[in-house]
Amino acid sequence: MLDRIKALQHEIEAITAQTKDEAEALRIKYLSKKGLISQLFGEFKNVPDDQKKAMGAAINDLKAFAQDKINSLKDSFSEKKGGSQGADLSLPGESMNLGSRHPLAVVRNEIIDIFARLGFVVSEGPEIEDDWHVFSALNFAPEHPARDMQDTFFIEKDPDVLLRTHTSSVQVRMMEKTQPPIRAIFPGRVFRNEAISARAHCIFHQIEGLYVDENVSFADLKQTLLYFAREFFGEKTEIRLRPSYFPFTEPSAEMDVSCSICGGKGCNVCKYTGWLEIMGCGMVDPNVLELCGIDNQKYTGFAFGMGVERIAMLKYGVKDLRLFFENDVRFLNQFQAAH
Ligand code: DAH
Repeated sequence: MLDRIKALQHEIEAITAQTKDEAEALRIKYLSKKGLISQLFGEFKNVPDDQKKAMGAAINDLKAFAQDKINSLKDSFSEKKGGSQGADLSLPGESMNLGSRHPLAVVRNEIIDIFARLGFVVSEGPEIEDDWHVFSALNFAPEHPARDMQDTFFIEKDPDVLLRTHTSSVQVRMMEKTQPPIRAIFPGRVFRNEAISARAHCIFHQIEGLYVDENVSFADLKQTLLYFAREFFGEKTEIRLRPSYFPFTEPSAEMDVSCSICGGKGCNVCKYTGWLEIMGCGMVDPNVLELCGIDNQKYTGFAFGMGVERIAMLKYGVKDLRLFFENDVRFLNQFQAAH
């Protein structure tokens, strides 16, 4: 038996392999369950007792030797692939993917920058709110449909704890803690109990604006929004204010901008009207000023609110709002160049 061990040892010393598969075949030949070395272990029971110790050690040594040898053959193939020894130094390095800002953040920052140039500061409020800040202080009638479970996510009832449905709630918080002059914008997430579709989502983003001081007029509102529209959509942009209704503003309006895609001539984005609706606005209702602790004899103000997704869709020609929430890198990568 000792002779066979020695013979195998010589044989294994001489083995070579050209491919990984060949090395694996050698492993099977010597080391698998039915391999030549395992057979030696099988015959070990027939070895006379006085030789068992020496013979056992010899078979174990052979096995360790074979394992080392075959492992090093195998390693030499994987090194050629990825290790430094066989590396082709002329190959280009692996590129590192750079991240990019989310398109909604890009649009939000751009809107904030524009209003900052007019002296508006940024303030934020909580997403989990109470009835007072979202509805009552904003002059919503007790039976207003927005107070319904179908439109609003309630966390608790009596007293109401709910997810804010608009960032107008932050106006209230600002007026409660600050006396005029107030010039601020409030970006943030809002929540509505809506079926998710290409045009609506249960979570989206708004930017609210508020300006309260002595002698603030509708003309100031109009001029501020015209400035914003031209900075954001281009200097040829026109705006149009259509009468509307919100409980917290009087008078109220809906603002349209001339379609930036067709320049107002009419296309499928503006549904051939030449105009795109982008926000609600109006003069802060004197009731709201009073409810928030501001003297409505001395002060007047204007407010506006816009949806960030809607504006991002118009800016980038995105047709489905859900894309903003799926975080598919193939979509997000397209905004690499945006700041
Ligand atoms: N809060 C309104 C909404 O979510 C948007 C809005 C309209 C905000 C008019 C305002 C405003 O400040 O004056 O639809």
